[in-house]
Amino acid sequence: MQEEIIKIKEEAEKEIVLVKDLLILENLERKYLGRNGKLRDLILRLKNLVDVEKRNFGQLINQAKKEIEFLIQKKETEIKKLKLVTGQVIDVTLPAEKISYGHLHPLTQLKNEVAEIFKSIGFEILEGPEIENEYYNFETLNILADHPARDMWDTFYLRKNDKPETINNKQKSLKSKVYSLKSEVLLLRPHTSNMQVRVMEKRKPPLRVCVIGKCFRHEATDAKHEHTLYQIEGFVVDQKISMANLIYTLRSFLSALYKKEINLRIRPAYFPFVEPGLEIDMGCLNCASKGCVVCKGSGWIEILGAGMIHPKVFRAAGYPQGKYTGFAFGVGLDRLAMMKYQIDDIRWLHSGDLRFIRQF
Ligand code: FA5
Repeated sequence: MQEEIIKIKEEAEKEIVLVKDLLILENLERKYLGRNGKLRDLILRLKNLVDVEKRNFGQLINQAKKEIEFLIQKKETEIKKLKLVTGQVIDVTLPAEKISYGHLHPLTQLKNEVAEIFKSIGFEILEGPEIENEYYNFETLNILADHPARDMWDTFYLRKNDKPETINNKQKSLKSKVYSLKSEVLLLRPHTSNMQVRVMEKRKPPLRVCVIGKCFRHEATDAKHEHTLYQIEGFVVDQKISMANLIYTLRSFLSALYKKEINLRIRPAYFPFVEPGLEIDMGCLNCASKGCVVCKGSGWIEILGAGMIHPKVFRAAGYPQGKYTGFAFGVGLDRLAMMKYQIDDIRWLHSGDLRFIRQF
């Protein structure tokens, strides 16, 4: 009988170790400890033994019962704990769940699309620094220190640059002649126009450049203003470039992006780095120009500033006076996204809210 007791105990141990489900554990408890269980069977057979054997085997059966009970209880706690943590019992024999992959953010998708369109009409695509100095952000763009236009591009300022030698000697001499000496102050660029002179001073025309990148503004946010935004800067410099070239390029770009003719409203506007300057609004696609929260009921949404490049910008780039003409424009990518995907509040775009992101 002793061997039988040991065999039953070992068999129970092996089975309990493998259990992952409470129902199966209950069945095992019944199988070994229940009224018709394996140990009960041995207990019934005790009555046929002599007293000494009865006592000895009785003790052994009792001990085996306690050990099996202990193992079952321990297993039960383990399974319940696992259920609490994961909400379900992990069955390692099941095939693994498929990993869901992320996808590109709607702004990145649009940025890529915009880059493809500009590449297809002969522009090269650049990015440029997000941390910029006052020289390229303002001074080369004819916005000198204390000029009120600096308020239009109010941004976040960083500490003074400890390494003024990042500005080369040619820039230094130009600066000391024409511009203020505050250029070592660093800031987060509020527009991509910072790249105009950066590119021009390194290259000679003809230039067809498109800069797509992140900008930052000290902004009271609302449905169409964010503190972090993307801009698409385009500029073309050559001889005999005209306003007609500018309008044609912008119309072609917008109809390629939206795959239909877009209603545009062109208004005169002031930017110190263009002359003449203009702003362009497009018919609001969020409400089919009927008036909504995005267009503030007007049916129009401002998407870009543009104009003919100011002679002072060419001068800052070191180009000979009167030799070149060019146009430049700066479009808000986030605003284009709002129109394309009919997003009623720009703040969704940088919210990181998955309920929003998963719709694209
Ligand atoms: C500029 O930033 C000029 N650099 C544009 C320019 C380039 C003019 C070249 C002339 C020549 P503005 O501040 O208006 O201009 O911004 C241009 C576009 O960026 C706006 O029309 C709008 O579409 C977008 N934009 C501006 N501020 C915000 C903001 N806070 N949130 C979202 N989009 C913005």
